[in-house]
Amino acid sequence: MDKIVITIATIVILFNFSSCAKQNETFVIGVSQCSEDLWRETVNKEIRREASFRNNMEVIIKSVKDDSEQQIKDIELFIEEDIDLLIVAPNEANALTPVVSKAYQSGIPVILLDRRILNEDYTAYVGADNYYLAYQLGLYSAAYLNYKGNVVEIRGLKGSTADIERNRGFSDALKQYPEIQIIDQEYCNFLRPNAREAMLEIIDRHKDVKIDLVFAMNDQMAMGVNDAYKNQNLFNRPFIVGVDALIGEGGGIEAINNGSIDASFIYPTGGDMVIEVAYKILNGIEYDRENILSTGVIDKSNVRVISLQNQQIIAQQKNVDILNSRLRSSIILYSKQKQFFYYSLTLSIFALIVLSVLIKTNRSKNSLNKKLNKQNEDITKQVDKLQQQKMQLINLSKELETATQAKLVFFTNISHDFKTPLTLIMGPVEELLSSDNFTQDQIDSLKIVQRNSYKLMGLITQILEFRTYENGKMALNYSVGALDTFLENINQLFSKFISQKQISFSFSTDNENYTIPFDPEKLEKIYFNILSNAFKFVLPGGKINVTLNQVSSGRKKYFQLSVYNSDSYIPQDKVKNIFDRFYHMGGMHESSGIGLALTKSLVQLHKGTIKVESTQNEGTTFIVTIPKVDIIDTCVESSGENLLSDYSRQQITSMDIPLIEKDVFDEITNKDKATVLLIDDNNDICAYVRSILSNDYNVLVATCGDEGIKKAIKFLPDIIISDIMMPGGIGGFEVCRRLKATDVTKDIPIIILTAWSMDDQRIKGYESGADAYLSKPFNADVIKIRIKKLIEKQKSINKLLENEWIIGESKKTLADSHQEILNDFRKYVEDHIHEEINIDDIAAYMNMSRSKFYRQLKEITDYSPTDIINMIKLKIATHMMTYEHKTISEAAFASGFSSSSYFTKTFTKFYKQRPSDYVKSKSAGGPH
Ligand code: FRU
Repeated sequence: MDKIVITIATIVILFNFSSCAKQNETFVIGVSQCSEDLWRETVNKEIRREASFRNNMEVIIKSVKDDSEQQIKDIELFIEEDIDLLIVAPNEANALTPVVSKAYQSGIPVILLDRRILNEDYTAYVGADNYYLAYQLGLYSAAYLNYKGNVVEIRGLKGSTADIERNRGFSDALKQYPEIQIIDQEYCNFLRPNAREAMLEIIDRHKDVKIDLVFAMNDQMAMGVNDAYKNQNLFNRPFIVGVDALIGEGGGIEAINNGSIDASFIYPTGGDMVIEVAYKILNGIEYDRENILSTGVIDKSNVRVISLQNQQIIAQQKNVDILNSRLRSSIILYSKQKQFFYYSLTLSIFALIVLSVLIKTNRSKNSLNKKLNKQNEDITKQVDKLQQQKMQLINLSKELETATQAKLVFFTNISHDFKTPLTLIMGPVEELLSSDNFTQDQIDSLKIVQRNSYKLMGLITQILEFRTYENGKMALNYSVGALDTFLENINQLFSKFISQKQISFSFSTDNENYTIPFDPEKLEKIYFNILSNAFKFVLPGGKINVTLNQVSSGRKKYFQLSVYNSDSYIPQDKVKNIFDRFYHMGGMHESSGIGLALTKSLVQLHKGTIKVESTQNEGTTFIVTIPKVDIIDTCVESSGENLLSDYSRQQITSMDIPLIEKDVFDEITNKDKATVLLIDDNNDICAYVRSILSNDYNVLVATCGDEGIKKAIKFLPDIIISDIMMPGGIGGFEVCRRLKATDVTKDIPIIILTAWSMDDQRIKGYESGADAYLSKPFNADVIKIRIKKLIEKQKSINKLLENEWIIGESKKTLADSHQEILNDFRKYVEDHIHEEINIDDIAAYMNMSRSKFYRQLKEITDYSPTDIINMIKLKIATHMMTYEHKTISEAAFASGFSSSSYFTKTFTKFYKQRPSDYVKSKSAGGPH
């Protein structure tokens, strides 16, 4: 719809503008007249009238008073203005020819009017034939004179073609009559007064001669001749003949009528003809170059009739003029109305377009509004729903908070309850330790009990203090003392670790006075927790730097304690949470999180701050900033040392775990015993497990995952027991995954041992390939039996390789039915030893489905069919190498291996030694 409207509008607008453009295509016609007189006026009037009939012509008329110079200038101007056509009546032919030629040469069409130039540079000529006219006039005069008499010639403008032609025509006609004499002539410039003057002089010159006829070259001069006779009271006025015979007042016809002159020859004005020719030229219509207007004589014999006709013509011309002017105003009105119509049409169409666009916009706005309203409704509904959900969540969290509080109260109570039994464990243990009746092993065990009861007591104390703080019941008890000495005393507690772990430890303070009030109990816990944390994570040979400095902000002064250790790293996303209550970092950091939460609470109690900065591979710094307080009356004065509580001493004891003497755990002392590799970073656990197992097994120990993997590959133990969380990035699951993916270790059973007992941890353990999963606390008998059974199972599998069933002689270590299956299997492999063996074919051979076949094999051997095929082939090969004394490569090819390198690889995987070593051991008489 819009498109149609737009198309119509475009057409209308284009039509509108094109019609305007056509109207604008008007030709400018310049008219240059040589004189200003009645004849010229008549011509000009005709030109204007005729031009006005044609609506695309604009006429500019410039007239001079017989002034050739001025006329040249006028024409030059017309050329400059680049008019479309020039109509010119040249004053003097000689003077005007160059400028008319110039106009013509510059491309402007030129129409000569009544007078000519001296060359052919014109487009058309309109006017009478002056020679012919004057010749006829000569004949008329001769007839009047009866071919005898004196004649005077009053000539026009010297040099104008009208004068020259008329003179030639008149004299040529009179030459035929020898009795007619032209006795005198005078140039009078076609002007009446000039003619009067000249005639008077001529009369004067020819007083004795009778002048019979005067030929004046126009009627004006003819009247001047008459004037000469009238004013001088001269009688015997000659017969006066003029040229033009103009109608109207002052014209020749009137002069004949009133007897001023006697006859005149019509010299047609031809203004209408000029415009007609111009129109044809401008519009490319065919036209005549020479347009000669006819002439004729007017004298007393016909002047009356001519006058009457002329009057009618004048009247008609007036009517025509009136009609014409009406027509013109109608045309103007019409054109204005047409323009108005088109503008209105254009406007209407635009209005239509705007209207349709508005309607459309309105429609789409309405539909958009509807959509928006719908969306708003939906959003409101959603907001309501969210509000409801939020309320539910708030209620839920309130319930949760209540439940949490209840749990915490319960937890606190339980913790209190733990204290008594713990004290009852700690007391007797201390007592036992102080007696001399125990062996070193017993003392070691008692120390484990002592350390771990202190640890537990420490944890309980932390929980209870944290609750006290949370309940707002914790208060600060200031004593004045030397803070720096106080801290150094705590440092002393760690001196053993510093030397054991070969840690570079430094403690420095600035020169400020640190004898200030502080709460020793709280500060001890803050500092001890941060420092013990640093010792927990620093690696042997690492660095711990402690600084105590004063900092100030405005007037306020603070002491700032920062503890840096070179080895721990807390990722950025965990830093903000490590002080949260019960937050557990996960990964390898074994911690309940209560220690740091309590530390932060204690710092907050001081209105201080605690923050952590940690960078990977650079270390971690804990920074505690606490405002200094003024000495107050209630402060007790005390020396730094006396201020230390039991807390630190007990906790340091709990950390005081004897280092494992690695050498003891780094060799297999008894080759007859199976070997257990224990991977755990907790020395107490290592010592405990070792004490349980060392009677029956060689016990190897590794304190981190990385070391565990290395030792497993080096010693190929019979079983591995690994903790999950250990420092150094490789935990128990990763150890398991890596060992199970390594050929030489993949068959070693692995038991995962950890304090975590959640199901998903167990699943993760089994996924990583663990064979068993034991959670702490564990029972010594349970772990012993688990180890025994797993080693036995593995041994029975290994026996398969030693089993003679491969060469036919069963030792019946397996159930008969199982032995039968293996025998069938072996037979098939032996029969197809040099072929590509397909599992489906063996299953079919043994009358079993593929899946049943797999299940059966798994049940008997824990090996895949491919493994068993390889084992059978290897068994055949070892038999050949041992009893038939075949070389390794002979045996390899004879037992169906495609290359001896693949044979060596497979052999080493199953026999844990290279074929060459095997052959050597056999020839040395080792066990078969
Ligand atoms: C008018 C006029 C006429 C005459 C003609 C000759 O200017 O003098 O009277 O016939 O010019 O060119």
